[in-house]
Amino acid sequence: MDEIKRIEQLRRELHEHNHRYYVENQPTISDMEFDALMHELQRLETAHPEMADPNSPTQRVGSDLGGEFRQVAHRYPMLSLSNTYNKQEVAEWYDSVKRGLGGEDFEVSCEMKYDGLSISLTYENGQLVRAVTRGDGVRGDDVTANVRTIRSIPLVLTGDEYPSEFEIRGEILMPWKVFERLNAEREKAEEPLFANPRNAASGTLKSQNSALVASRQLDAYLYYLLGEQLPSDGHYENLQKARKWGFKVSEGMRKVKSLEEIYNFIDYWDVERKNLPVATDGIVLKVNSQHQQRNLGFTAKSPRWAIAYKFKAERERTRLLEVSFQVGRTGAVTPVANMEPVQLAGTVVKRATLNNEDFIRSFDLHLGDYVFVEKGGEIIPKIVGVDTDNRDPDAIPVTFAEICPECGTPLVRYEGEAIHYCPNDTGCPPQIRGRIEHFISRKAMNIESLGPETIDDYYRHGLVKNVADLYDIDVQQINGDGSREKSARKIVDGIEASKQVPFERVVFALGIRLVGETTAKLLARHFQNIDKLMAATLDELTHIDGIGEVVAKSVITYFHTQNNVEIVERLRKYGLQMSLSQEQLDSHTELLKGMTIVISGVFQKHSRDEYKAMIEQNGGKNTGSISAKTSFILAGENMGPSKLQKAEKLGVNIINEDQFLEMIGIKV
Ligand code: IVH
Repeated sequence: MDEIKRIEQLRRELHEHNHRYYVENQPTISDMEFDALMHELQRLETAHPEMADPNSPTQRVGSDLGGEFRQVAHRYPMLSLSNTYNKQEVAEWYDSVKRGLGGEDFEVSCEMKYDGLSISLTYENGQLVRAVTRGDGVRGDDVTANVRTIRSIPLVLTGDEYPSEFEIRGEILMPWKVFERLNAEREKAEEPLFANPRNAASGTLKSQNSALVASRQLDAYLYYLLGEQLPSDGHYENLQKARKWGFKVSEGMRKVKSLEEIYNFIDYWDVERKNLPVATDGIVLKVNSQHQQRNLGFTAKSPRWAIAYKFKAERERTRLLEVSFQVGRTGAVTPVANMEPVQLAGTVVKRATLNNEDFIRSFDLHLGDYVFVEKGGEIIPKIVGVDTDNRDPDAIPVTFAEICPECGTPLVRYEGEAIHYCPNDTGCPPQIRGRIEHFISRKAMNIESLGPETIDDYYRHGLVKNVADLYDIDVQQINGDGSREKSARKIVDGIEASKQVPFERVVFALGIRLVGETTAKLLARHFQNIDKLMAATLDELTHIDGIGEVVAKSVITYFHTQNNVEIVERLRKYGLQMSLSQEQLDSHTELLKGMTIVISGVFQKHSRDEYKAMIEQNGGKNTGSISAKTSFILAGENMGPSKLQKAEKLGVNIINEDQFLEMIGIKV
């Protein structure tokens, strides 16, 4: 057989074996045989670069060459569902559907509500062409390269009965088993744990390194088909077809005709879901017929033809053994309950947050108490009650730590605040590490070649004690025994490149308490250089629109601390941007001065972020919600109906892209 034909045959076979293994759980060949076929294909593809195909089974391994995610507009907005919490509310929804359909008969599709992150997949001529996250429902991130590594998502469809173009939506999940293994590894490596499989899946899918995504063994269930030429009017029927094309569709899905059957479905899965390999947090009910769905329509946020029923949180009783205290990067100290391990909603629980001192007091918590722990929508367990009847009469009440468990400094609790802080911000290890991690993060100096683990390592070896030390690192110091020259150079180059990061992000990167991205921008634009910012008085600061007294005080405190001034001076010496660039100064106008502008909808000519930047460049302010103070709304297509209504009610002007561009002097 010629090699081209063999490539095609191997691809077909490997797709099939992959489907049998990851979707049907019924492999027909051994792992070794699978690997042999894969190697053969890899070898042939290398010999025939003209046959390259992003949907080849060999592409499932991913690569670490990711850049930024591209933002893509959803063809159909991704809405959420309204929630119900008891059968009464389900009955009310059922009645409203009946009324909405004028008494017509209808069927309901009952499904699991998967607790992962939603994804929209587009297929053209049987090939996966795009995978986009939900984002804000209107636009999401293009994560196709990462999604290609998820084995249960077909890259090429089976058969030939699928529409030439369609979207299918579903949930990306990290199975419980994988989640537990991952967290166990992280615990060993002293890395921060993921709170739940959803966060772990989300963190994984947002990684720029698709090879890492491939190693995390994500799974995907699909539950919603959209398109112009779907096979049937029935949602349930369409999904059964989709299963034949190769998608993983829940086997537990049922189509029913009465409220009673819905209740039975709920009762069954409320118990049975504990045996599922992935996290679920409820049931989804959908009117099955698409023409009935259209007749029922949507409210501002969600369809009238579907609802979610959320399972009640699971609760267990266990014993409080000890309370420990964790110090975060801002110095905030959180009390943590260490408990006798107990099985709860899929995982073994032995720790729960106790929030703060008032929380501990409200339960009058004693060591050795029997406590009730619950897992709600968030899978981080929380203590919801104490079984005081079983308290040992000699039990010792839990008290809050008086000194920092990390550095021994006496803790402070500011007046009117619930949180204790360790005030030793320049000498307390987690705070120092946290500040450096913030400094290198994407929205700050964006030093991608460094990560929290590396920072931790450098800190432990005494290589960096503050952000300025980063700029002293040279390749020799970090290339280990000499074998890591390449990665060492990449790190040093990344640090060097950060010297070009604009001034406003440098201000943000300093990590001044309460100075987020927006405030940092305001400060940078107002003072234009670091000297003026360092010399700012309280009066000057509070006169800036958008800066209140608390933030102003925090800025002053920061620049009146000797240690901080020294760091800033060192950063200046190393060549970081300490003033607005000439370009920024030149391009800044006051055309939108004093205006508050809301952005809404999908745009053709520029991205949302670009419009945001243009508003700021021209002296305006961008905010999220419409109020009487809004000067106008910059609206693209598909502006949300609730926003539209609000704008009309308040008489706020709506202008389109072209009008806006003309307003700031750009010819269209
Ligand atoms: S249907 C217009 N079906 O729940 C309806 N969603 O709050 C589109 N979800 O964003 C969604 N399991 O991420 C649907 N069987 C299921 C689901 C499901 C989980 C998620 C989805 C959605 C959210 C709704």
